[in-house]
Amino acid sequence: MELMNKRESVIRDILSHMIIMADSAGMFANDLDIATKLIGLLVGGHDTSSSAITSVMKFLAEYPHVYDRVFKEQREIANSKREGEPLNWEDLQKMKYSWNVVCEAMRLRPPIAGTFREAITHFCYAGFRIPKGWKIYWNAYTTHKDPKYFPDPDKFDPSRFEKDGLTPFTFVPFGGGPRMCPGREYGRLVILVFLHNVVNKFSWEKLVPNEKTISLVIPTPSEGFPIGLKPHENAMVHEV
Ligand code: HEM
Repeated sequence: MELMNKRESVIRDILSHMIIMADSAGMFANDLDIATKLIGLLVGGHDTSSSAITSVMKFLAEYPHVYDRVFKEQREIANSKREGEPLNWEDLQKMKYSWNVVCEAMRLRPPIAGTFREAITHFCYAGFRIPKGWKIYWNAYTTHKDPKYFPDPDKFDPSRFEKDGLTPFTFVPFGGGPRMCPGREYGRLVILVFLHNVVNKFSWEKLVPNEKTISLVIPTPSEGFPIGLKPHENAMVHEV
């Protein structure tokens, strides 16, 4: 027990935790297990948020009127803080329009296209019989582009998220059901804090106007999304 406490006290990161700690049966994870889980955490926990941020910056460069509204919202929050005062949870709740913009960016460019489910019973869908046990891939792109739920689906329109009552399971950037992304609130925090700081400090323009998006599991700009940053005068920046 004492040894366990000593071990726990030196664990400061997830890699050390996976190397040092045994499961309830006393078994340690092997190298392959650890590597697989770390890659999953890096892609799932980091690349998703950075992809969403890239998409938001792309759309803000393309739609100056949307940038202006985000800037206004974020500048009001910045102005309500004292010099050097960090952002807090209440500030995040005020970022309503900014979050609608992030949602619309993730609707059109979901960081994760979809994942798998296993059919736990036989069922019919769209005339196809799906046998129990089959693996099924659900896809956010097709769901997010269904005009029944998102009229004029190719249009970038953050106001869709101002209306109440999205049909359940139609907007699924974080998945849905019991395996829904457990990092979604943290992801929201990372994206909004970044947006707050970048918008309060800069406006920007795309340097490759028609840059393509390629899919490297997550949507990725083909040229690395070069931008020209234009600093605002009197920029205000807050950490969290
Ligand atoms: C914008 C940011 C993010 C997006 C769009 C996103 C998206 C997703 C999606 C679509 C799934 C599959 C859900 C399902 O099958 O129903 C998922 C699962 C998961 N995500 Fe995220 N994620 C984000 C951020 C994060 C962060 C920051 C973390 C952790 C620090 C994280 C950890 C996980 C984990 C562990 C799972 C697997 C959950 C399970 O299978 O039970 N995600 N995420």
